[in-house]
Amino acid sequence: MQVDELLKPFPIKEFHPFPRALMGPGSHELIGPEALKMGFKKTLVMTSGLRGTDIVHKIVESMKYHGLEVVVYDKVESNPKDYNVMDAVGLYQQNHCDSFVSIGGGSSHDACKGARVSVAHDGRNVNEFEGFNKSENPANPPHIAVSTTAGTGSETSWAYVITDTTTDPDNPHKYVAFDDASVTSLAIDDPVLYYDCPIDFTAQCGFDVLAHASEPYVSRLNFEPSLGNALHAVKLTSQHLRQAVWNGQDLAGREGMMYAQYIAAQAFNSGGLGIIHSISHAVSAFYDTHHGLNNAVALPRVWAFNMPACYGRFADIAEAMGVDTRGMTRPQAADAALAASIRLLRDVGIPERFADVTQSSYSKNRLGQGPTKYYENSPAIIGDAADVDRITNHVLGDACTPGNPKECTFETVRPVVEHSINGDLDDLLT
Ligand SMILES: [Fe+2]
Repeated sequence: MQVDELLKPFPIKEFHPFPRALMGPGSHELIGPEALKMGFKKTLVMTSGLRGTDIVHKIVESMKYHGLEVVVYDKVESNPKDYNVMDAVGLYQQNHCDSFVSIGGGSSHDACKGARVSVAHDGRNVNEFEGFNKSENPANPPHIAVSTTAGTGSETSWAYVITDTTTDPDNPHKYVAFDDASVTSLAIDDPVLYYDCPIDFTAQCGFDVLAHASEPYVSRLNFEPSLGNALHAVKLTSQHLRQAVWNGQDLAGREGMMYAQYIAAQAFNSGGLGIIHSISHAVSAFYDTHHGLNNAVALPRVWAFNMPACYGRFADIAEAMGVDTRGMTRPQAADAALAASIRLLRDVGIPERFADVTQSSYSKNRLGQGPTKYYENSPAIIGDAADVDRITNHVLGDACTPGNPKECTFETVRPVVEHSINGDLDDLLT
């Protein structure tokens, strides 16, 4: 049975397993011995390149030191495109590789998960596997994912997100594939590797974590095993994100966000997401903006939209964010959670609406590589009525939307999208 069929009445919950993980300072240095233990001989490394750092070089050289053959594909783009995945699949087949390593954030891990699924199906196009558990052959090559950001959680989740560039260029499509067969073989989360993550990425990835944590906590799935992790991840993010952003070499901040991102992903893995992610996917599809940035801009608007469906859950979130809710009614506490999220967003320097996201600022977000070939002629965010309509329609078709606590229709979601693009955050505080 497909998950989307289960979602409608929500009678059956499904737990999706996590891979083994190595966590903490220095854990990335174990990649060689771990790869050997798993039988790797010739590995395709997939990454954006992480230019400006020596992370890829050091990990590749460490693998070679342990006797592994390594082929590198370092052209993964932000919001990975189907052609990134298929180029890597070609390289893997051509070099007769037997294993994968991804180094980076969600883009590298997601592209790698898609490539593994494709390889297991004789190189069929990754876009054929959009949806829930579309793999027909679960026996795909082993994969070690090494994270260099605290945001994605892709190293431990069953989700990967790909932009399908084969659709109408005026109506591009970014989709989530949820596939148990895509789960990595080993996750490595080493906070020392986050030290090189720039301030703006750190902040934006941190809001991906807050979205991963808060969405399952209020989701229609109401999956009990996810709730504790979700709330704890909210707490850790509130405690550590400012420190990670403004003092990036501080281990406590980086390590706190490492655990926040890891357990937030484990919360949404079976607990579901909502329309923070759906709006984020839609805006990335049309404008190639950073996933975490999109989540940050959408989050306060979606919280305000969803609150009437679950004030109590948002009151818990307020408490997890450090608000003293004693003496408050549940709606008052929920409002305090919203205010705390806006305070956090402002404290870490994130643009307050999509209209404030300039072409230059999100070009920088494209992993330092400038506009990709698919988006090189795309304008800055338009935000007119037709743009709001097409983004809203993309949101309604997203796999994350059915989990949203409040019913989503074109009429109810459009104002949320409109406000995310052009609205003033102070409107939400009155
Ligand atoms: Fe996300």
